[in-house]
Amino acid sequence: MFNLEKLVRSNIRQLQPYTSARDEFSGTEGIFLDANENPFGTYNRYPDPYQTALKSRLAQIKAVPPEQLFLGNGSDEVIDLLLRIFCTPGEDQALIFTPTYGMYEVCAHINDVKLLRLPLLEGFQIDLENALPMLFNPRLKMIFLCSPNNPSGNLLQASDIETLLQHFKGIVVLDEAYVDFSPLPSWSGKTAQYPNLVVLQTLSKAWGLAGLRIGMAIAQAGIIAYLNKVKPPYNISSQNQQTALAALQRTATFREQVSVIASEKNRMEQALTALDFVEKVYPSDANFC
Ligand SMILES: Cc1ncc(COP(=O)(O)O)c(C=O)c1O
Repeated sequence: MFNLEKLVRSNIRQLQPYTSARDEFSGTEGIFLDANENPFGTYNRYPDPYQTALKSRLAQIKAVPPEQLFLGNGSDEVIDLLLRIFCTPGEDQALIFTPTYGMYEVCAHINDVKLLRLPLLEGFQIDLENALPMLFNPRLKMIFLCSPNNPSGNLLQASDIETLLQHFKGIVVLDEAYVDFSPLPSWSGKTAQYPNLVVLQTLSKAWGLAGLRIGMAIAQAGIIAYLNKVKPPYNISSQNQQTALAALQRTATFREQVSVIASEKNRMEQALTALDFVEKVYPSDANFC
């Protein structure tokens, strides 16, 4: 049985988190002396630490309740925070299926978490036969899955993801950075069924906002509460929150751009296939091939 409290590092469980001035008073009216800010200027106030307005718009778009959403300074920040919550440095381990996105490894090593690697099979699918026995290793706390996978571009088979979610008592991070280009829906609707599932998404790809550094985790509220507990208090700037919120109103432009990118990707696939030294162009469910 999945037990969140048991899985969280004891120092994180017991941590007394920083409470910011904006935690204690979230209104906008009045004279604020509580955060030693400067009274002058446009960006003189600290940002909303929980990005309430932005999250409520994202909750609509992603069809998940705001309390199941966490925003990070890019999904890269979320990857790092998750490792810090669940893996004791020098003791615990995480598993990746290679080749995959490089930051899982970098973040694991920064946190002194041993990384186990299992090569993806032909067609870049999960090697379940070899993965299943690894799930019973008590030091293995997290699995990183990337679907559609970077760099291979393909979706992982749903039945394989489901098997890992069912059999693993640790956290399964499913990175869906490219989900908006893929033909299948997100797994974000499955968090009620799988309490160990953390879906990562980002505004860096289909929304074209990589410069704003806004990534998100979608999970059950208990996991989101731990992410809020360990994050830097003001991890998304006011300007980035406002700019992202404005961009998220332009859904027609978003859809149009995703469709242009999809047809340009097809053109690229055909052009690559036509080259005589190219042996095979693998099918892609992402925005690259
Ligand atoms: C699979 C995957 N996850 C996450 C990221 C980074 O996302 P962010 O810009 O939100 O940190 C990338 C960027 O290339 C990626 O390929």
